[in-house]
This record gives sequence, C-alpha cells and structure tokens, in this order.
Amino acid sequence: MKENDAQKGEELIDIDEKGKAITKKEEKKPAASENFTHVLCIFLGLVLLGLYLKIFVFNKNTEKTKNYHKLKSADDLNRNVGDYIIRFVNQHPKANIGLASGSTPEGLYKYLINKYERNEVSFKDIKFFSIDGFCGLKKDDDKSYHYALTNTFLSKIDAQENNIFLLKEEGSGIEEYEKNAEDYNKLLKEHPIDLQILSFGENGHIGFNEPNTDFDLLTHVVKLSDEKRKDKSKIFGALDKTPEYAITQGVKSILQAKEVIAIAKGKGKAKAVSDLVNGVFTKNSPITALINHNGKVTVFTDEEAGEFVKEFNKKF
Ligand code: GLP
Repeated sequence: MKENDAQKGEELIDIDEKGKAITKKEEKKPAASENFTHVLCIFLGLVLLGLYLKIFVFNKNTEKTKNYHKLKSADDLNRNVGDYIIRFVNQHPKANIGLASGSTPEGLYKYLINKYERNEVSFKDIKFFSIDGFCGLKKDDDKSYHYALTNTFLSKIDAQENNIFLLKEEGSGIEEYEKNAEDYNKLLKEHPIDLQILSFGENGHIGFNEPNTDFDLLTHVVKLSDEKRKDKSKIFGALDKTPEYAITQGVKSILQAKEVIAIAKGKGKAKAVSDLVNGVFTKNSPITALINHNGKVTVFTDEEAGEFVKEFNKKF
C-alpha cells in the first residue's frame, strides 16, 4: 500500500504477532479546507446567536418601526392610545414612562384612570418622568407642570411617591435651574425612558424646544421668547408674573427614549403631523426629529390632525 493511499484513509494491511495478515483502516486526517469550514460555521453560529440575543432578549422593545394611525375622533384616540399603554404596562410592569404635558393627553389620562379604577391596570411599579416645566415655581403652585401632572393623573392612580421623578421647577435663579437640568440628565442616564408619551405644539415644538432649536441638547434651561411669554401670560394673569425661564428635556434626550408614542388632536397640528408622517425632516419642526429615532415610534392622531395624511394607517 502506498503512503499516499494511507493518508487518504484507505485500508492498510498489517501482520499480527502470529504472522496473520490483518487489515486496519488509517484514520482520515481532516484537510485544511475542512478545518476552515468548521471554524467558519462556529463563527457564523456565534454571530447569529449574538444577533438573536440583541434583538429578542436584550432589546425586546427597541425594534426600529414607525407607524401612523388616524382615528375618527378624540375619544377613539384616547381609547386606542390608552389600550396601547395598558398593554405596554402589563408587559413591562416596571417600566420607566415619560409623561406628556399640556391639554392633548388630558383625555388619555382620564381613560387610564378609569381603567385603573376598574382594576384593569396597575402602575404601582412604574417610574414616571416628565418632559418640561416652568422655572421658579413650587411643586404645589397650581400653574406648575408638576401640579398639573399630579392632579390630572398621578394622584389618581396607584403611582408610588418614590417612583415619581418629575422635572424640578423650583429654584430662585438661573444657576439653580441649570443644576436641576444637570441633575435630570444624570437621572435619565440611570433610568432610561422605556416609553415616552409625547405631544407637540402647532409649530412642531416639543417640550420647550422651539423651531430651529439645537437638536443636540439634553435637558436644559430655555429663556422664553417675548412671544412665548406673552402667550403663557394668559395662564399667569400678567406678563410680569410669567416665568422668564423654562426647563425642558432636549430633542436628543427625547430621542433616547426606547419607544415613543406621539399624539395630536385638532386641525392646528395637521401640518406638523404631515411633515412627521410624510418624512419631511426639518429643523423648523422639532417633532420631525422623530423621523431619525432609532427605536419604535407610533403616531396617533384624530381625523383633523391627520387631515393631510391620506392613509388611516401607514408605516413611515
Ligand atoms: C406646551 C408644552 C408642551 C406641550 C405643547 C402642546 O407649550 N410646553 O409640553 O406638548 O405645548 O400643548 P397642547 O397639548 O396643550 O396643545
């Protein structure tokens, strides 16, 4: 038998101690190309396992999708968004949820309170955060955002005092306000938002991030423009009683929420909704920053706010 044949794993003839011929098979040595295939398979297996863990285990709610839903009425909107939030809370009972301020979510909060009272949902382990506030107001000032969120929602569900982390509006000067903003950035780093409920103004502003603001800011203090103060003076009764500063999560902080639900009602928001849902990114409308969000964004509007969007449901 030739040496070459033996290397190929062919039969060898040998002689045993009694002089009898026996045959045995030489073990086949793997060729270099087989070794390479094994290594490649293991490598690909590890890559697939890594992807699976990243997508399905560690980042369950960070899939990159953008959906739009147009509802017939404001009631439909509250019910649909409310049920969505209840499903989310039931699936993630310890989630960090960011609350929207202003009048848009009021009906939604009423719907959620009603569901809580019927024992259909519990918020006892949910941590709550906020988007914005005026500077220089005490917690119990009825014009503060803290007061509004507490009285329209948080005090009427089973939210635990030590799970409520609303932006601090208190303070007596810019340095204190800026410290409040810095502290909030640290807090959000420790407790990233899982679900942000977001509303926005007719010009697309979110929180106190007005058109053409720097989209790269985290929570910061904003000096209110004369126009904005004049507008807000309706709430405070007179211009000289209206705060000069506001505190707000920045566009960058809002984009860091793993998931965002944006809601809008009424004709006045139709242009901002259409820019967002039709993918027209513009610095002129901060809400359009959501187009570049890396996770899941769902936009819900009533018919009026969705006037310029043709479809009732669409991906964008
Ligand atoms: C206010 C608030 C925002 C709010 C927006 C829309 O200025 N700073 O947080 O999202 O305006 O308010 P509304 O829902 O009342 O239209």
